[in-house]
Amino acid sequence: MIRVGILTVSDRGASGEREDQSGPLIKEIMQNRGWETAACSIIPDERKKIAQKLIEYADDLNIDVVFTTGGTGFAPRDVTPEATLDVVERLAPGLVQAILFESLKITPRAMLSRAVSGIRGGTIIVNLPGSPKAVRECLDVVLPALEHGVQILR
Ligand code: MTE
Repeated sequence: MIRVGILTVSDRGASGEREDQSGPLIKEIMQNRGWETAACSIIPDERKKIAQKLIEYADDLNIDVVFTTGGTGFAPRDVTPEATLDVVERLAPGLVQAILFESLKITPRAMLSRAVSGIRGGTIIVNLPGSPKAVRECLDVVLPALEHGVQILR
């Protein structure tokens, strides 16, 4: 069983101003795949808070794959990639490269995501954009390969 952590990064989601749709969508997609969602949180676009949560997921909760959603764009407060780079020990660029490659066939705006992916201990961290549409499209790309990645990492 693959254990997944979901981290929605959104100022408005964290304050309750906007309902988080992408976190629950990721959870539903994991459920359909038979993967367990072991942790789920919504936090504001704060680099330190994002990094702390990623460390907790990886080091304390033994999660196999963390999907972040949101905060990958060009807006001044978008810092999810920087927080991810603060905590990963090794890069796994193929995941976001594959996402970019496939997403560009759908929208040129895919190039506006600065998402990164990497590994901390036994945990793979993948940044996804914030919209439910983008989440679905990006997960379609990486999920088929991730199970093997998790197995190699164990
Ligand atoms: N990737 C896919 N597959 N589909 C999309 O609709 N939207 C793009 C991009 N990546 C998109 C996508 C857009 S419009 C933006 S601004 C960036 O992701 C960053 O999104 P974020 O700031 O919500 O993380």
